[in-house]
Amino acid sequence: MGTHSRPRRLTTAALTVVLAAVAAACAPAHPNSIFHNHTDFNRDVGHLFDLLIGLGTVVFVFVETLLVITLIRFRKREGQPAPTQTHGNAKLEITWTAIPALILAVIAVPTVRTIFKTEAPAASDALQVTVTGHQWWWQFDYPQYGITTANELYLPIGRTVNFTLKTADVIHSFWIPELGGKRDLVSNHTNYLWFTPDSVSDDVFNGFCAEFCGTSHANMRFKVFTVSQAEFASWAKHEAEPAVALDTAPAAPAAKGAKAASAPAMQVAQAAPSTESFVSYDRSKIPAYAVPETPIPAGLTFDESLKGHPVSGEKLISAPTSMCLACHAIKGNPMMQGVLGPNLTHIASRSTIAGGLYPNDARHLELWIKNARVMKPGILMYTFGQGQIDPQTGKPSDYGKLTDQQIADIVAYLQTLK
Ligand code: CUA
Repeated sequence: MGTHSRPRRLTTAALTVVLAAVAAACAPAHPNSIFHNHTDFNRDVGHLFDLLIGLGTVVFVFVETLLVITLIRFRKREGQPAPTQTHGNAKLEITWTAIPALILAVIAVPTVRTIFKTEAPAASDALQVTVTGHQWWWQFDYPQYGITTANELYLPIGRTVNFTLKTADVIHSFWIPELGGKRDLVSNHTNYLWFTPDSVSDDVFNGFCAEFCGTSHANMRFKVFTVSQAEFASWAKHEAEPAVALDTAPAAPAAKGAKAASAPAMQVAQAAPSTESFVSYDRSKIPAYAVPETPIPAGLTFDESLKGHPVSGEKLISAPTSMCLACHAIKGNPMMQGVLGPNLTHIASRSTIAGGLYPNDARHLELWIKNARVMKPGILMYTFGQGQIDPQTGKPSDYGKLTDQQIADIVAYLQTLK
């Protein structure tokens, strides 16, 4: 008895695992599933996929059924003589060559049609977005609107968007599972990808780098917000505007904490509470699957009691000795013209920082400036916190000059850049 119950228990366990996996696949929440099609591109590719899986299933069931029948019916029996030996069967061989050839021909027609359709140039009136992959973040340029931003895409529903795909360093791959891709960003070669988002409502999608590109490949993410055409127009208009300079802005009060000094940006946002004033997706409405939950590395702390002064932060960041301006740009700030790092003009309107790795809030920004290399392994950005160890050298950072108060000031300024 004991010898029989063990395989039965194993079978029961295996069946339980399979059933659980099948049940999990039926659950509705799969925000990164390629089976949810929100664009013409994904729908075309999806139909092709369904056809291939359908035909493959028919072939699999047919072949396996024949195999099982053969195994049972023609198995060796006691006292049975050897079966008749045959060599060659022209009719059978022609049949099993012709049927797969026919199936391949059936598959070829929609495959070639889909390839031709998706590889054709996009409509001439498409929204143009140039995507540049960097280790490890995404630069998004909207040349028709004069916009350069990072890690967050806004796309109008119902308008075709044409991506021009480039890389600043190694090979990356642009992929938004529910919208389209993957398509590689290759050195010295430009790729293209176009699709038309057709979500029925505003939506948030996760984007990824899908080609191993170094230490922080897994930390190279982005967000896509599909919004109405009116909201997009409003977002683009705002995004193209230069940042509000605090020390010349008439409404800027004497610096007394982040709340008070963010007033100029607040006034812009409150002027007209309609789609006219849409500047970014409502953070409170972003679903949990699009909010990063990356834990803060152990040992990295910040004095949370400090109050940041935005005007001081603006002065610090724009001083000729500032390290920030070597890599970052802020439109409207003549000192900030760097192109190596993400453009910070409207950084406060983004929901994430660090290539989608952390939520964009004061706490994460402060720790990021203090020791970005601990927050995200391998990156170019230096360690700026006073007394901090640079994990890439194992020694105190040569650039570790900023006190927690100075960092709090810089963050208070960045938070005004709505
Ligand atoms: Cu970029 Cu992986």
